[in-house]
Amino acid sequence: MSSTDLDSPATEADGGGASQAKQRAAENVPGLKSYGTLYGSSPVMLDLYEQIDRVAATDATALIIGESGTGKELIARTIHDHSARKSGAFVAVNCGAIPDELIEAELFGHEKGSFTGAVQGRIGYFEHANGGTLFLDEVTEMAPVRQVKLLRALETGTFYRVGGTELIRGDVRVIAATNRDPAVAVKENGLREDLMYRLAVFPLRAPPLREREGDRELLAVHFLDELNRQEGTNKVFSKRSMETLRTWSWPGNVRELKNAVYRAFILAEKAVELPHPHLMSRVKKPVTVGDSMSVWIGTPLADAQKQIILGTLKYCGGDKRRAAKALGVSLKTLYNRLSTYGDEESSHEEN
Ligand SMILES: Nc1ncnc2c1ncn2[C@@H]1O[C@H](COP(=O)(O)OP(=O)(O)O)[C@@H](O)[C@H]1O
Ligand SMILES: [Mg+2]
Repeated sequence: MSSTDLDSPATEADGGGASQAKQRAAENVPGLKSYGTLYGSSPVMLDLYEQIDRVAATDATALIIGESGTGKELIARTIHDHSARKSGAFVAVNCGAIPDELIEAELFGHEKGSFTGAVQGRIGYFEHANGGTLFLDEVTEMAPVRQVKLLRALETGTFYRVGGTELIRGDVRVIAATNRDPAVAVKENGLREDLMYRLAVFPLRAPPLREREGDRELLAVHFLDELNRQEGTNKVFSKRSMETLRTWSWPGNVRELKNAVYRAFILAEKAVELPHPHLMSRVKKPVTVGDSMSVWIGTPLADAQKQIILGTLKYCGGDKRRAAKALGVSLKTLYNRLSTYGDEESSHEEN
């Protein structure tokens, strides 16, 4: 681990706005800007680049808050890459994926024989990240008792391995991320307030794609361009695809967009068709087994309601009174809904 390899400071005093020095125009997509491995030209992203620049120059703990798929890990990586620790390790840990009873040993390591099955001692992520950056994803998912240990390590810069007696001093910059509102996580999900404040010395918000004006089209073209270059192809989006990009809200954010482009790219000969997810879900019927029914992820709420109403009515053998009771609505509401569906049905064939 080369923690002493501090070859250049994180930000050069080269005049002008700091982020303007780092932010580049992306090579092949006109109008697209990039910063490290982050792409996007919307005002909220330019603002984010600016903040990354500021925080990268420091050793402050940062908390990245944003929905799933908004690029939180990429943001953490970009901070690391622009910091004085860039030649050290970047270690990413998904706290939500580690069983509660193992997380302490995973983070801080353990000594041989410290618990059943610990036949060998092992260092933890804090030691792996020494001289570099430790990225703690989904940090709000840690049980409160484990959070205390993390808080101590952050405050003192020291920790013990599980079952160890030697106090270890680490040189680690911690960046945490969560897809919850931290204040809500404190109230409802057992995030300790003291830990929240300690992590959020420098809070950064990863904006959802729907707030990133103009970025959907730019990012889609960028991802397509990357695929074209990889595969030596020359595929282009259809007109309808551009419309889908604009009109779909992309609740899964950049991850959803990237996967949609990839899937459409594989299926395309030349013109890449991004199917509108809303239209797709119309084709995807719910799966009913006995008295249970699964609705596809991404089904628009109005459609899900319709599927549940019709499914329940069918299950009740067409008895509207029983169905209304089961659904917890008045008979009148049920009739109203059914008549709306009837109108839809007659305006375009379905089922
Ligand atoms: N601004 C961005 N520019 C380019 N790719 C991005 C951007 N944001 C996210 N991605 C891509 O989207 C996917 C999800 O990003 P990730 O950082 O894992 O999101 P999160 O951790 O917030 O769920 C990854 O494939 C990542 O490379
Ligand atoms: Mg993530």
